[in-house]
Amino acid sequence: MNLSTTIAGVTFPTCLMNAAGACCVTQEELEALGESHAGAIVTKSMTPQPREGNPGPRYVSFPGGSINSMGLPNLGYPAYAKLIPELRRFKKPVVASVAGLSPQDFIEAAKAIELAKPDLVEVNLSCPNIPGKPQIGYDMEASRQLLLELQDIFTIPMGVKLPPYFDPIHHEAMARVLEKVKVSFLSLINSVGNGLVVDPESETVVIKPKGGFGGMGGTIIKPVALANVRAFWKLFQGQMPIIGTGGVVTGTDVFEHLLCGASAVQIGTTLVDEGLTAFDRIEKELSEVLNKKGYASVEACRGKLKEL
Ligand code: DHB
Repeated sequence: MNLSTTIAGVTFPTCLMNAAGACCVTQEELEALGESHAGAIVTKSMTPQPREGNPGPRYVSFPGGSINSMGLPNLGYPAYAKLIPELRRFKKPVVASVAGLSPQDFIEAAKAIELAKPDLVEVNLSCPNIPGKPQIGYDMEASRQLLLELQDIFTIPMGVKLPPYFDPIHHEAMARVLEKVKVSFLSLINSVGNGLVVDPESETVVIKPKGGFGGMGGTIIKPVALANVRAFWKLFQGQMPIIGTGGVVTGTDVFEHLLCGASAVQIGTTLVDEGLTAFDRIEKELSEVLNKKGYASVEACRGKLKEL
């Protein structure tokens, strides 16, 4: 089964890749992704300065999902700008995730990353874990201003990683922002921000930062992820490539994202919990599902969800 896909003119050997943040901070992790069955190498969201991130425990998984408040631990963009050309030897797309604590941070990182020439850039408008810094993607005007500045810096295709929206009004408002900027793809969704997991035994929160509040991932967020993929697929009439993220554990989960309109998927919680062999397993499962369903490719089922 051919599981390849194309996003913004870039061909991916398979439609499965890591989500930014999952197993992609260090050189060793990025090279391991290169050697794995991942269809791309996505970097951790990078900031100007190297960051240790928040104090631990800062990632906990539980049946059905995970909660994290990593706090953007990363090597800083100069290190990734140096690494990206080397990662191209793995002959799969390299996707650079760019973040920042201020618009100036994004702009600075964007200029260096443009010169490093990854295949795609994913602008992260949705980190929920920096104390005192709201998710940019929930502020439509701030998102618009930032994307207008970034579009003039990048010649490589620029995509946007958005937070989940829970009301059609917000999908429409963000779509109106995106229509006016040169955005080549969407990554939907980032973790569902500021959830709280409680351990009733110890009567405590389970992660240390922000009083236990953190971004939720895994199976529990799949319906929210699918809804966001579907909503933006419809708003752009199937003309905007979408990378679906959220709740991908099995090949069937990938199939559901593809039906909703995704061209590829990213895998976070499952990758962190299971390791890189998750790619081999999910690839095999997806092939089986597509075969059984009579679809010959990813493209053949993309967006084909039926309504009642
Ligand atoms: C972190 C978490 C995110 O969901 C994100 O988009 C960026 C960074 C983090 O805590 O490191």
